Amino acid sequence: MAAPAAAGLPTPTIDHSDVQGTILRGYRVDFARHFILTIDNAAATGQLIQALVSGSNGLPKVTTAQRPPTKPACFLNLSFTCPGLAAMGVSATDLLSFDGSFQLGATNLKVANNVGDVGSSAPANWVGGLNNGGQVHMLLSVWVTDSLDVLESVSAQLRAAFTGAVTELSTQDATALPDNMVHFGYRDSIAQPNIIGAPATKQPSDDQPAVLTGEFLLGYANESGGTYSVTPAQLSTNSSYAAFRILEQDVAGFEALLESYSTKAGMSSEMLAAKICGRWRNGNPLELAPTTQGPVLPTSELNNFNYVTGQAPTDDTLGLKCPVGSHIRRNNPRDEAVVGTDSTHHRIVRRAMPYGPPYDPRLPDAGATRGLVGYFINASVQNQFEFLSSQWNLVSSFVKSATGPGGSNDGNAVFNISGQDVFLGVNDPASSSFTLPGLGKNGTANTTLTGFGRTVTTRGGVYVFFPSISGLTYLAGLPQA
Ligand code: HEM
Repeated sequence: MAAPAAAGLPTPTIDHSDVQGTILRGYRVDFARHFILTIDNAAATGQLIQALVSGSNGLPKVTTAQRPPTKPACFLNLSFTCPGLAAMGVSATDLLSFDGSFQLGATNLKVANNVGDVGSSAPANWVGGLNNGGQVHMLLSVWVTDSLDVLESVSAQLRAAFTGAVTELSTQDATALPDNMVHFGYRDSIAQPNIIGAPATKQPSDDQPAVLTGEFLLGYANESGGTYSVTPAQLSTNSSYAAFRILEQDVAGFEALLESYSTKAGMSSEMLAAKICGRWRNGNPLELAPTTQGPVLPTSELNNFNYVTGQAPTDDTLGLKCPVGSHIRRNNPRDEAVVGTDSTHHRIVRRAMPYGPPYDPRLPDAGATRGLVGYFINASVQNQFEFLSSQWNLVSSFVKSATGPGGSNDGNAVFNISGQDVFLGVNDPASSSFTLPGLGKNGTANTTLTGFGRTVTTRGGVYVFFPSISGLTYLAGLPQA
Protein backbone atom coordinates (compact mmCIF):
# COMPACT_ATOMS: atom_id res chain seq x y z
CA MET A 1 0.00 0.00 0.00
CA ALA A 2 1.44 3.38 -1.01
CA ALA A 3 2.23 5.75 1.84
CA PRO A 4 1.49 9.49 1.73
CA ALA A 5 4.61 11.44 0.70
CA ALA A 6 4.08 14.15 3.29
CA ALA A 7 3.43 12.32 6.52
CA GLY A 8 0.92 13.81 8.90
CA LEU A 9 -1.41 15.38 6.36
CA PRO A 10 -4.89 13.84 6.41
CA THR A 11 -6.19 12.37 3.14
CA PRO A 12 -8.51 15.02 1.71
CA THR A 13 -12.06 14.12 0.79
CA ILE A 14 -12.47 14.98 -2.86
CA ASP A 15 -15.91 15.30 -4.41
CA HIS A 16 -15.10 13.17 -7.45
CA SER A 17 -18.33 14.28 -9.13
CA ASP A 18 -16.90 17.84 -9.23
CA VAL A 19 -13.61 16.87 -10.96
CA GLN A 20 -13.19 16.32 -14.71
CA GLY A 21 -12.51 12.63 -15.10
CA THR A 22 -9.35 12.57 -17.19
CA ILE A 23 -7.43 14.30 -14.38
CA LEU A 24 -7.84 11.49 -11.89
CA ARG A 25 -8.63 8.37 -13.90
CA GLY A 26 -7.53 6.81 -17.19
CA TYR A 27 -10.36 5.82 -19.51
CA ARG A 28 -8.69 2.85 -21.26
CA VAL A 29 -10.27 3.42 -24.66
CA ASP A 30 -9.49 2.65 -28.30
CA PHE A 31 -10.24 6.02 -29.91
CA ALA A 32 -10.04 9.73 -29.08
CA ARG A 33 -10.90 12.93 -30.95
CA HIS A 34 -9.76 16.34 -29.77
CA PHE A 35 -11.74 19.32 -31.14
CA ILE A 36 -9.77 22.57 -31.27
CA LEU A 37 -12.28 25.40 -31.00
CA THR A 38 -12.57 29.19 -31.21
CA ILE A 39 -15.34 30.85 -29.20
CA ASP A 40 -17.41 33.09 -31.51
CA ASN A 41 -20.30 33.86 -29.23
CA ALA A 42 -19.79 33.68 -25.45
CA ALA A 43 -23.48 33.48 -24.53
CA ALA A 44 -24.10 30.61 -26.98
CA THR A 45 -20.90 28.90 -25.79
CA GLY A 46 -22.19 29.24 -22.22
CA GLN A 47 -25.34 27.39 -23.26
CA LEU A 48 -23.24 24.73 -24.98
CA ILE A 49 -21.09 24.26 -21.85
CA GLN A 50 -24.17 24.01 -19.64
CA ALA A 51 -25.76 21.46 -21.97
CA LEU A 52 -22.54 19.39 -21.78
CA VAL A 53 -22.41 19.65 -17.98
CA SER A 54 -25.99 18.43 -17.66
CA GLY A 55 -25.95 16.10 -20.67
CA SER A 56 -29.06 17.77 -22.10
CA ASN A 57 -30.13 18.41 -25.73
CA GLY A 58 -29.00 14.87 -26.59
CA LEU A 59 -25.35 15.75 -25.93
CA PRO A 60 -22.94 13.53 -24.01
CA LYS A 61 -22.31 14.66 -20.45
CA VAL A 62 -18.93 15.91 -19.26
CA THR A 63 -17.25 12.91 -17.62
CA THR A 64 -16.35 13.24 -13.96
CA ALA A 65 -13.82 11.40 -11.83
CA GLN A 66 -16.62 9.45 -10.18
CA ARG A 67 -16.40 5.93 -11.51
CA PRO A 68 -19.74 4.75 -12.98
CA PRO A 69 -20.92 1.17 -12.24
CA THR A 70 -20.56 0.23 -15.93
CA LYS A 71 -18.09 1.56 -18.47
CA PRO A 72 -19.73 4.14 -20.76
CA ALA A 73 -19.32 4.07 -24.54
CA CYS A 74 -18.12 7.67 -24.57
CA PHE A 75 -16.17 10.05 -22.30
CA LEU A 76 -15.94 13.84 -22.72
CA ASN A 77 -13.85 16.59 -21.12
CA LEU A 78 -13.57 20.29 -21.72
CA SER A 79 -10.70 22.71 -21.20
CA PHE A 80 -9.86 26.35 -21.93
CA THR A 81 -6.84 28.41 -22.87
CA CYS A 82 -6.19 31.80 -21.29
CA PRO A 83 -7.70 33.63 -24.32
CA GLY A 84 -10.62 31.21 -24.05
CA LEU A 85 -11.30 32.12 -20.40
CA ALA A 86 -11.05 35.80 -21.38
CA ALA A 87 -13.54 35.22 -24.21
CA MET A 88 -15.98 33.71 -21.68
CA GLY A 89 -15.65 36.83 -19.53
CA VAL A 90 -13.04 35.99 -16.87
CA SER A 91 -11.53 39.38 -15.99
CA ALA A 92 -7.97 40.35 -16.87
CA THR A 93 -7.29 40.83 -13.15
CA ASP A 94 -8.46 37.31 -12.33
CA LEU A 95 -6.43 35.84 -15.20
CA LEU A 96 -3.30 37.26 -13.55
CA SER A 97 -3.83 34.73 -10.73
CA PHE A 98 -3.39 31.79 -13.15
CA ASP A 99 -0.16 29.85 -13.82
CA GLY A 100 2.31 32.24 -15.48
CA SER A 101 3.07 29.99 -18.44
CA PHE A 102 -0.63 29.27 -18.95
CA GLN A 103 -1.13 33.02 -19.24
CA LEU A 104 1.60 33.28 -21.89
CA GLY A 105 0.44 30.20 -23.79
CA ALA A 106 2.43 27.48 -25.55
CA THR A 107 3.00 29.55 -28.71
CA ASN A 108 4.75 32.32 -26.77
CA LEU A 109 8.35 32.22 -28.01
CA LYS A 110 9.86 32.43 -24.52
CA VAL A 111 7.73 29.46 -23.46
CA ALA A 112 8.47 27.56 -26.68
CA ASN A 113 12.24 28.11 -26.45
CA ASN A 114 12.20 27.00 -22.84
CA VAL A 115 10.62 23.60 -23.56
CA GLY A 116 12.59 22.90 -26.75
CA ASP A 117 9.87 23.83 -29.26
CA VAL A 118 12.45 25.30 -31.64
CA GLY A 119 13.53 24.67 -35.23
CA SER A 120 11.14 22.22 -36.91
CA SER A 121 9.25 21.98 -33.58
CA ALA A 122 8.67 25.76 -33.39
CA PRO A 123 5.05 27.00 -32.99
CA ALA A 124 5.14 28.62 -36.46
CA ASN A 125 5.13 25.07 -37.92
CA TRP A 126 2.26 23.72 -35.80
CA VAL A 127 -0.75 22.12 -37.45
CA GLY A 128 -4.52 22.50 -37.15
CA GLY A 129 -4.55 26.21 -36.35
CA LEU A 130 -2.40 25.67 -33.24
CA ASN A 131 0.28 27.96 -34.68
CA ASN A 132 -1.96 30.92 -33.78
CA GLY A 133 -2.37 30.53 -30.01
CA GLY A 134 -4.68 33.54 -29.72
CA GLN A 135 -7.43 31.87 -31.74
CA VAL A 136 -7.34 28.59 -29.77
CA HIS A 137 -9.94 28.98 -26.99
CA MET A 138 -11.36 25.64 -26.04
CA LEU A 139 -10.40 21.97 -26.38
CA LEU A 140 -13.21 19.44 -26.29
CA SER A 141 -11.98 15.87 -26.13
CA VAL A 142 -14.07 12.78 -26.75
CA TRP A 143 -12.82 9.29 -26.00
CA VAL A 144 -14.81 6.24 -27.07
CA THR A 145 -14.39 2.76 -25.68
CA ASP A 146 -14.21 0.76 -28.89
CA SER A 147 -16.59 1.97 -31.60
CA LEU A 148 -15.74 4.33 -34.44
CA ASP A 149 -19.48 4.55 -35.16
CA VAL A 150 -20.02 6.00 -31.67
CA LEU A 151 -17.18 8.47 -32.25
CA GLU A 152 -18.73 9.64 -35.53
CA SER A 153 -22.27 9.92 -34.18
CA VAL A 154 -21.13 11.83 -31.07
CA SER A 155 -19.01 14.09 -33.30
CA ALA A 156 -22.05 14.82 -35.50
CA GLN A 157 -24.15 15.70 -32.41
CA LEU A 158 -21.41 17.97 -31.12
CA ARG A 159 -20.87 19.68 -34.47
CA ALA A 160 -24.57 20.48 -34.69
CA ALA A 161 -24.37 22.00 -31.19
CA PHE A 162 -21.26 24.06 -32.10
CA THR A 163 -23.27 26.13 -34.62
CA GLY A 164 -23.48 29.76 -33.56
CA ALA A 165 -21.24 29.20 -30.54
CA VAL A 166 -17.80 27.99 -31.60
CA THR A 167 -15.82 27.39 -34.80
CA GLU A 168 -13.96 24.12 -35.23
CA LEU A 169 -10.36 24.93 -36.17
CA SER A 170 -9.36 21.29 -36.47
CA THR A 171 -9.63 17.86 -34.91
CA GLN A 172 -6.78 15.63 -33.79
CA ASP A 173 -7.65 11.93 -33.70
CA ALA A 174 -5.92 9.15 -31.80
CA THR A 175 -6.16 5.38 -32.05
CA ALA A 176 -4.77 2.97 -29.49
CA LEU A 177 -2.27 0.39 -30.64
CA PRO A 178 -2.47 -3.14 -29.18
CA ASP A 179 -1.23 -3.64 -25.58
CA ASN A 180 -0.86 0.11 -24.90
CA MET A 181 2.01 0.32 -27.37
CA VAL A 182 3.30 3.65 -28.66
CA HIS A 183 4.87 4.12 -32.08
CA PHE A 184 8.48 3.42 -31.20
CA GLY A 185 7.26 -0.05 -30.23
CA TYR A 186 7.28 0.35 -26.45
CA ARG A 187 4.47 -0.51 -24.10
CA ASP A 188 3.39 2.75 -22.41
CA SER A 189 1.01 3.94 -19.67
CA ILE A 190 2.65 1.85 -16.96
CA ALA A 191 3.93 4.44 -14.48
CA GLN A 192 1.42 7.04 -13.30
CA PRO A 193 1.47 8.94 -10.00
CA ASN A 194 -0.54 7.53 -7.09
CA ILE A 195 -2.59 10.62 -6.27
CA ILE A 196 -3.86 10.84 -2.72
CA GLY A 197 -7.66 10.92 -2.75
CA ALA A 198 -8.04 9.72 -6.37
CA PRO A 199 -10.75 7.14 -7.08
CA ALA A 200 -9.79 3.53 -6.44
CA THR A 201 -8.53 1.69 -9.49
CA LYS A 202 -8.76 -1.92 -10.56
CA GLN A 203 -5.00 -1.87 -11.24
CA PRO A 204 -2.87 -3.15 -8.39
CA SER A 205 -1.18 -0.27 -6.59
CA ASP A 206 2.62 -0.05 -6.88
CA ASP A 207 5.00 0.71 -4.04
CA GLN A 208 5.88 4.24 -5.19
CA PRO A 209 5.27 7.11 -2.74
CA ALA A 210 1.84 8.67 -3.13
CA VAL A 211 1.76 12.29 -4.29
CA LEU A 212 -0.27 14.99 -2.57
CA THR A 213 -3.58 15.91 -4.24
CA GLY A 214 -2.46 19.53 -4.66
CA GLU A 215 0.06 18.48 -7.34
CA PHE A 216 -2.90 17.68 -9.62
CA LEU A 217 -5.89 19.65 -8.32
CA LEU A 218 -6.08 23.30 -7.33
CA GLY A 219 -7.25 23.97 -3.79
CA TYR A 220 -5.41 21.15 -1.96
CA ALA A 221 -2.05 20.96 -0.19
CA ASN A 222 0.83 20.38 -2.61
CA GLU A 223 4.29 18.91 -2.10
CA SER A 224 5.86 22.36 -1.55
CA GLY A 225 3.74 23.01 1.53
CA GLY A 226 1.43 25.40 -0.34
CA THR A 227 -1.79 25.23 -2.34
CA TYR A 228 -2.18 26.22 -5.98
CA SER A 229 -5.26 28.37 -6.42
CA VAL A 230 -6.78 31.02 -8.68
CA THR A 231 -9.44 33.67 -8.49
CA PRO A 232 -12.38 33.70 -8.71
CA ALA A 233 -12.85 30.95 -6.11
CA GLN A 234 -15.46 29.24 -8.33
CA LEU A 235 -12.68 28.32 -10.76
CA SER A 236 -10.20 27.16 -8.15
CA THR A 237 -10.85 24.02 -6.10
CA ASN A 238 -10.98 20.77 -8.13
CA SER A 239 -9.61 22.42 -11.31
CA SER A 240 -6.32 21.57 -13.02
CA TYR A 241 -4.03 22.44 -15.93
CA ALA A 242 -2.54 20.43 -18.76
CA ALA A 243 -0.15 20.68 -21.66
CA PHE A 244 -1.87 19.32 -24.76
CA ARG A 245 0.82 18.04 -27.13
CA ILE A 246 0.97 16.62 -30.65
CA LEU A 247 4.33 14.86 -30.85
CA GLU A 248 5.25 13.41 -34.23
CA GLN A 249 7.49 10.36 -34.08
CA ASP A 250 9.93 9.47 -36.85
CA VAL A 251 9.75 5.70 -36.44
CA ALA A 252 12.00 4.92 -39.42
CA GLY A 253 14.55 7.38 -38.04
CA PHE A 254 14.39 5.82 -34.58
CA GLU A 255 14.81 2.30 -35.98
CA ALA A 256 17.78 3.51 -38.05
CA LEU A 257 19.30 5.11 -34.94
CA LEU A 258 19.03 1.81 -33.03
CA GLU A 259 20.49 -0.12 -35.94
CA SER A 260 23.43 2.17 -36.59
CA TYR A 261 24.40 2.73 -32.93
CA SER A 262 24.00 -0.81 -31.57
CA THR A 263 27.49 -1.87 -32.73
CA LYS A 264 29.15 1.15 -31.12
CA ALA A 265 27.07 0.51 -27.99
CA GLY A 266 28.20 -3.11 -27.99
CA MET A 267 24.67 -4.44 -27.59
CA SER A 268 21.66 -5.55 -29.60
CA SER A 269 19.39 -2.86 -31.00
CA GLU A 270 16.65 -4.13 -28.65
CA MET A 271 18.86 -3.61 -25.64
CA LEU A 272 19.83 -0.14 -26.87
CA ALA A 273 16.09 0.64 -27.20
CA ALA A 274 15.70 -0.43 -23.56
CA LYS A 275 18.68 1.68 -22.43
CA ILE A 276 17.27 4.78 -24.17
CA CYS A 277 13.85 4.37 -22.52
CA GLY A 278 14.69 2.63 -19.23
CA ARG A 279 12.18 -0.09 -20.07
CA TRP A 280 12.29 -2.89 -22.63
CA ARG A 281 9.79 -2.59 -25.39
CA ASN A 282 7.52 -5.08 -23.58
CA GLY A 283 7.43 -2.70 -20.57
CA ASN A 284 9.76 -4.61 -18.24
CA PRO A 285 11.99 -2.09 -16.43
CA LEU A 286 15.76 -2.47 -16.78
CA GLU A 287 16.02 -2.29 -13.00
CA LEU A 288 14.15 -5.60 -12.72
CA ALA A 289 15.23 -7.16 -16.04
CA PRO A 290 18.77 -5.81 -16.56
CA THR A 291 20.17 -8.26 -19.11
CA THR A 292 17.31 -9.70 -21.16
CA GLN A 293 13.76 -8.58 -21.82
CA GLY A 294 12.20 -11.83 -20.58
CA PRO A 295 8.47 -12.52 -20.30
CA VAL A 296 6.30 -9.55 -19.30
CA LEU A 297 6.38 -9.15 -15.52
CA PRO A 298 3.07 -9.17 -13.63
CA THR A 299 1.40 -5.73 -13.69
CA SER A 300 1.82 -5.45 -9.93
CA GLU A 301 5.62 -5.59 -10.35
CA LEU A 302 6.16 -3.41 -13.42
CA ASN A 303 6.56 -0.22 -11.43
CA ASN A 304 7.99 -1.55 -8.19
CA PHE A 305 11.57 -0.37 -8.35
CA ASN A 306 13.91 2.39 -7.27
CA TYR A 307 17.36 3.43 -8.43
CA VAL A 308 19.19 3.73 -5.12
CA THR A 309 19.04 0.85 -2.66
CA GLY A 310 22.52 1.37 -1.21
CA GLN A 311 23.23 -2.36 -1.43
CA ALA A 312 24.86 -4.43 -4.17
CA PRO A 313 23.61 -5.94 -6.40
CA THR A 314 20.28 -4.05 -6.47
CA ASP A 315 21.72 -0.51 -6.18
CA ASP A 316 21.88 1.35 -9.50
CA THR A 317 23.09 4.82 -8.44
CA LEU A 318 25.54 4.71 -11.36
CA GLY A 319 23.00 3.72 -14.00
CA LEU A 320 24.78 0.54 -15.00
CA LYS A 321 21.41 -1.16 -15.44
CA CYS A 322 19.11 1.78 -16.27
CA PRO A 323 21.14 4.71 -17.67
CA VAL A 324 20.92 7.91 -15.60
CA GLY A 325 19.95 9.70 -18.83
CA SER A 326 17.25 7.24 -19.93
CA HIS A 327 13.77 8.65 -20.63
CA ILE A 328 12.00 7.26 -17.57
CA ARG A 329 14.86 8.13 -15.22
CA ARG A 330 15.04 11.72 -16.46
CA ASN A 331 11.27 12.12 -16.17
CA ASN A 332 10.99 10.52 -12.74
CA PRO A 333 14.38 10.05 -11.04
CA ARG A 334 12.53 8.43 -8.11
CA ASP A 335 14.98 8.18 -5.18
CA GLU A 336 18.05 9.31 -7.18
CA ALA A 337 19.81 12.37 -5.68
CA VAL A 338 18.96 15.43 -7.79
CA VAL A 339 19.72 19.13 -7.50
CA GLY A 340 16.75 21.01 -5.99
CA THR A 341 13.50 19.38 -5.03
CA ASP A 342 12.93 15.66 -5.51
CA SER A 343 10.77 13.90 -8.07
CA THR A 344 7.52 14.08 -6.04
CA HIS A 345 7.46 17.84 -6.87
CA HIS A 346 7.52 17.24 -10.61
CA ARG A 347 5.15 14.37 -11.32
CA ILE A 348 2.68 14.49 -14.22
CA VAL A 349 -0.32 12.43 -15.26
CA ARG A 350 0.06 11.26 -18.86
CA ARG A 351 -3.10 10.87 -20.94
CA ALA A 352 -1.70 10.63 -24.46
CA MET A 353 -2.53 8.09 -27.19
CA PRO A 354 -0.92 7.21 -30.51
CA TYR A 355 -2.12 8.71 -33.78
CA GLY A 356 -1.43 7.58 -37.32
CA PRO A 357 -1.17 4.04 -38.72
CA PRO A 358 1.09 1.40 -37.15
CA TYR A 359 4.55 1.55 -38.72
CA ASP A 360 5.48 -1.25 -41.08
CA PRO A 361 8.30 -0.48 -43.55
CA ARG A 362 6.71 -2.90 -46.07
CA LEU A 363 3.39 -1.04 -46.23
CA PRO A 364 2.66 1.91 -48.52
CA ASP A 365 1.69 4.11 -45.54
CA ALA A 366 5.12 3.66 -43.93
CA GLY A 367 5.78 7.32 -44.73
CA ALA A 368 2.54 8.56 -43.09
CA THR A 369 2.78 10.88 -40.11
CA ARG A 370 2.30 9.27 -36.73
CA GLY A 371 3.01 10.09 -33.10
CA LEU A 372 1.52 10.70 -29.71
CA VAL A 373 -1.29 13.16 -28.90
CA GLY A 374 -2.94 14.07 -25.64
CA TYR A 375 -2.65 15.73 -22.26
CA PHE A 376 0.14 15.97 -19.69
CA ILE A 377 -1.79 16.97 -16.56
CA ASN A 378 -0.60 18.89 -13.49
CA ALA A 379 -1.62 21.64 -11.03
CA SER A 380 1.35 23.79 -12.07
CA VAL A 381 2.43 23.94 -15.72
CA GLN A 382 5.60 25.72 -14.64
CA ASN A 383 6.68 23.32 -11.89
CA GLN A 384 5.65 20.11 -13.55
CA PHE A 385 5.30 19.83 -17.34
CA GLU A 386 7.62 22.76 -18.08
CA PHE A 387 10.12 21.77 -15.43
CA LEU A 388 10.42 18.27 -16.89
CA SER A 389 10.53 19.55 -20.46
CA SER A 390 13.06 22.33 -19.91
CA GLN A 391 15.20 20.90 -17.10
CA TRP A 392 15.40 17.17 -16.68
CA ASN A 393 14.90 16.46 -20.41
CA LEU A 394 17.20 19.17 -21.74
CA VAL A 395 20.10 19.31 -19.28
CA SER A 396 22.27 16.71 -17.58
CA SER A 397 23.60 18.79 -14.69
CA PHE A 398 20.61 18.05 -12.42
CA VAL A 399 22.15 14.81 -11.14
CA LYS A 400 23.94 15.13 -7.79
CA SER A 401 27.33 13.66 -7.07
CA ALA A 402 26.71 10.11 -5.81
CA THR A 403 28.67 6.90 -5.63
CA GLY A 404 27.37 3.35 -5.37
CA PRO A 405 28.15 0.69 -2.77
CA GLY A 406 31.56 0.10 -4.46
CA GLY A 407 32.78 3.64 -3.79
CA SER A 408 34.26 6.24 -6.12
CA ASN A 409 36.48 3.79 -8.03
CA ASP A 410 33.31 2.39 -9.59
CA GLY A 411 32.28 5.82 -10.80
CA ASN A 412 30.01 8.71 -9.88
CA ALA A 413 26.50 9.41 -11.17
CA VAL A 414 27.42 12.91 -12.34
CA PHE A 415 29.79 11.50 -14.98
CA ASN A 416 27.21 8.99 -16.16
CA ILE A 417 24.75 11.27 -17.91
CA SER A 418 25.24 13.61 -20.87
CA GLY A 419 23.29 15.53 -23.48
CA GLN A 420 19.49 15.56 -23.56
CA ASP A 421 16.70 12.99 -23.54
CA VAL A 422 16.87 10.89 -26.72
CA PHE A 423 13.07 11.12 -27.21
CA LEU A 424 12.44 14.72 -26.13
CA GLY A 425 15.76 16.54 -26.48
CA VAL A 426 16.53 19.16 -29.13
CA ASN A 427 19.05 16.70 -30.47
CA ASP A 428 21.35 18.09 -33.13
CA PRO A 429 23.91 15.72 -34.69
CA ALA A 430 26.58 18.35 -33.98
CA SER A 431 26.05 18.23 -30.21
CA SER A 432 23.81 15.29 -29.23
CA SER A 433 25.05 12.73 -26.76
CA PHE A 434 23.76 9.73 -24.79
CA THR A 435 25.84 7.99 -22.14
CA LEU A 436 25.81 4.27 -21.46
CA PRO A 437 27.48 4.09 -18.04
CA GLY A 438 30.31 1.64 -17.41
CA LEU A 439 32.03 0.58 -14.21
CA GLY A 440 35.08 2.82 -13.70
CA LYS A 441 36.36 5.99 -12.05
CA ASN A 442 35.06 9.35 -13.35
CA GLY A 443 33.19 7.88 -16.29
CA THR A 444 36.34 6.46 -17.92
CA ALA A 445 34.56 3.20 -18.78
CA ASN A 446 31.46 4.86 -20.22
CA THR A 447 30.34 4.55 -23.84
CA THR A 448 28.97 7.79 -25.23
CA LEU A 449 26.89 7.84 -28.41
CA THR A 450 26.97 11.09 -30.38
CA GLY A 451 25.84 12.49 -33.71
CA PHE A 452 22.11 11.62 -33.71
CA GLY A 453 19.21 13.96 -34.47
CA ARG A 454 15.65 14.44 -33.24
CA THR A 455 13.18 11.61 -33.69
CA VAL A 456 10.26 13.47 -32.06
CA THR A 457 8.99 16.78 -33.44
CA THR A 458 6.36 18.94 -31.77
CA ARG A 459 3.46 19.50 -34.17
CA GLY A 460 1.22 21.29 -31.72
CA GLY A 461 1.00 22.51 -28.15
CA VAL A 462 -1.69 24.18 -26.06
CA TYR A 463 -1.70 25.02 -22.35
CA VAL A 464 -5.19 24.45 -21.03
CA PHE A 465 -7.17 24.80 -17.82
CA PHE A 466 -9.66 22.09 -16.83
CA PRO A 467 -12.28 23.81 -14.64
CA SER A 468 -14.08 21.74 -12.01
CA ILE A 469 -17.64 20.78 -12.93
CA SER A 470 -18.99 23.62 -10.75
CA GLY A 471 -16.36 25.85 -12.41
CA LEU A 472 -17.79 24.92 -15.83
CA THR A 473 -21.26 25.96 -14.64
CA TYR A 474 -19.80 29.23 -13.33
CA LEU A 475 -18.07 29.87 -16.70
CA ALA A 476 -21.25 29.01 -18.60
CA GLY A 477 -23.15 31.68 -16.67
CA LEU A 478 -20.50 34.42 -16.95
CA PRO A 479 -21.66 35.93 -20.27
CA GLN A 480 -25.12 36.49 -18.74
CA ALA A 481 -23.74 37.83 -15.46
C1 HEM B 1 6.60 10.89 -28.40
C2 HEM B 1 7.02 11.22 -27.22
C3 HEM B 1 7.16 10.24 -26.08
C4 HEM B 1 7.41 8.92 -26.10
C5 HEM B 1 7.64 8.01 -27.30
C6 HEM B 1 7.42 8.46 -24.72
C7 HEM B 1 7.62 7.14 -24.33
C8 HEM B 1 7.57 6.70 -23.02
C9 HEM B 1 7.64 5.33 -22.62
C10 HEM B 1 7.76 4.14 -23.57
C11 HEM B 1 7.57 5.29 -21.27
C12 HEM B 1 7.63 4.04 -20.38
C13 HEM B 1 6.25 3.57 -19.96
C14 HEM B 1 5.85 3.97 -18.56
O1 HEM B 1 6.71 4.04 -17.68
O2 HEM B 1 4.64 4.19 -18.35
C15 HEM B 1 7.45 6.65 -20.80
C16 HEM B 1 7.37 7.04 -19.48
C17 HEM B 1 7.29 8.35 -19.07
N1 HEM B 1 7.31 9.47 -19.86
FE1 HEM B 1 7.33 9.52 -21.87
N2 HEM B 1 7.21 9.52 -23.90
C18 HEM B 1 7.04 10.64 -24.68
C19 HEM B 1 6.78 11.92 -24.25
C20 HEM B 1 6.83 12.33 -22.94
C21 HEM B 1 6.68 13.71 -22.51
C22 HEM B 1 6.41 14.91 -23.41
C23 HEM B 1 6.83 13.69 -21.15
C24 HEM B 1 6.81 14.86 -20.20
C25 HEM B 1 7.37 16.02 -20.44
C26 HEM B 1 7.03 12.32 -20.74
C27 HEM B 1 7.18 11.89 -19.45
C28 HEM B 1 7.20 10.56 -19.05
C29 HEM B 1 7.09 10.15 -17.67
C30 HEM B 1 6.89 11.04 -16.44
C31 HEM B 1 7.16 8.75 -17.67
C32 HEM B 1 7.07 7.82 -16.47
C33 HEM B 1 8.40 7.74 -15.74
C34 HEM B 1 8.28 6.98 -14.45
O3 HEM B 1 7.44 7.33 -13.63
O4 HEM B 1 9.08 6.05 -14.25
N3 HEM B 1 7.05 11.53 -21.85
N4 HEM B 1 7.45 7.49 -21.90
